Amino acid sequence: MEGVKTADGKTKHTIMTQTFTSKSLQLPDRPEVPVPYRQRLAEDFERYRVEPLPQAIEAFLLERYGLDVGTRYADWPLKNPFGKASGQLSNKLYQVKADAETGLGFVILKTVIAQDAKGDQSMAAWAIMETLMQAEPIVGKTGMKGWTVSWKGRGWYESFQAYLDFFEASLKEARAHHLLVIPSCKYHLPMPGEEAWRTEEYAYTTDQLCRVWERAGPGGPMPIEKDFSPTLAGSDRARQKEKVLEWLRRVPKMIQSSVTPGRVKVGLKIMNAVFEDEFQLEMLKATIDESEDGVGPDWLIYANRLFDPAREFQGKKGIAVGGPDLSDRNLWALGELRRREAQGAFRRPVPPISGTGDIGTGRMAVQYALRGVENFQMHTLFQLPHTEYPRRAGSRNEKVMHRLFFDPETGLIAWLLHLGHALGIVGPDGITHFRDVVDWHRGPGREFFQE
Ligand SMILES: Cc1cc2nc3c(=O)[nH]c(=O)nc-3n(C[C@H](O)[C@H](O)[C@H](O)COP(=O)(O)O)c2cc1C
Repeated sequence: MEGVKTADGKTKHTIMTQTFTSKSLQLPDRPEVPVPYRQRLAEDFERYRVEPLPQAIEAFLLERYGLDVGTRYADWPLKNPFGKASGQLSNKLYQVKADAETGLGFVILKTVIAQDAKGDQSMAAWAIMETLMQAEPIVGKTGMKGWTVSWKGRGWYESFQAYLDFFEASLKEARAHHLLVIPSCKYHLPMPGEEAWRTEEYAYTTDQLCRVWERAGPGGPMPIEKDFSPTLAGSDRARQKEKVLEWLRRVPKMIQSSVTPGRVKVGLKIMNAVFEDEFQLEMLKATIDESEDGVGPDWLIYANRLFDPAREFQGKKGIAVGGPDLSDRNLWALGELRRREAQGAFRRPVPPISGTGDIGTGRMAVQYALRGVENFQMHTLFQLPHTEYPRRAGSRNEKVMHRLFFDPETGLIAWLLHLGHALGIVGPDGITHFRDVVDWHRGPGREFFQE
């Protein structure tokens, strides 16, 4: 990669048709796929519009394109970076089974609402039955078109025992397919003016989930996602910024200390709060540097949907939204996080990051990856009208995988080949390793974030 100093002292990298400056990490609209691969990709794209996808897609990509898509979800190895985000598409066993069979890397189960041993749930208002969901076109502030899913539902609404059974059956289903299955939980959070934390809910729920993992999981500590729902950000609770920051500082220790050491590892799913953009960085700073007694999260999930107080769905005003404004805000915040990290603004290391938010193409995925995101969790992509998927045959999951990997304009194959070529992300073995894209911001890409 050629670096040239400009008059104002910034380094400019001229890469193919695209100029990256330290201020901009914009990708070109279309990937520059090296000639030998162009025809091959066009053929594979057409072929897999109708034929079954390759059985082990990872081995296929390595052999045919020199791409290694293996990665991690914090401590856990993943065969590929694509997974299903927590929600309505991961609350039934048949859905997890389909995810395993189609070859997704991981699935986060629907969020369960914590309870104590007597069955009391302080967040019971979240355990309501789901309603109709609707995928709707949405136009972002910059005019970019995309999709959002509107609905009014919240958390898991069956019994806690039913969730434990579902978790156990999902772990068993996943085993043969190397699919990582992770539970998600919404624990009690004190309201502004309330000081007490319901430790019994943390203790009972975490212990019960750990027991399932210890019985049916792959061994080692259980990973869990703690959901800070974006809808919560629209309620009175989150109007108090200080309270939100307190939650972020305390929750990892609350979960960790609720069971004996070594049984659980905690990821915080950061919300997009209703406050100004800078507050996103304040939340990240609190999460990384200000954890109670130094017990921080083991990883972050960045970041759940936006809350639009004016948007209406089925008579409810104020709902969560996704689409281009979500990815714009998330990519901005992640870029800013890496910039501050490169400048030494954090005392502690930034934990591994799982990305979520408007990830519907390989192109969007690599934009997150260039900001250090190591895997991608999607919900909306699985709910688009069938006309949005180039693949004509097979299940929706297969259509999603085909679009994510093979689309010659937007797919991961095309964009990893582009990055290999344009940024020189090719290992000594001649392979473009997805992990090197994730680590790029700490190595050759560091100066993009240093200004
Ligand atoms: C219908 C629906 C239900 C959801 N339920 C949950 C949930 O229970 N727990 C959670 O952490 N996130 C939930 N989410 C958020 C998703 O997991 C995901 O992080 C978010 O939608 C951003 O990804 P996307 O743009 O691909 O949809 C839900 C999203 C949708 C659209």
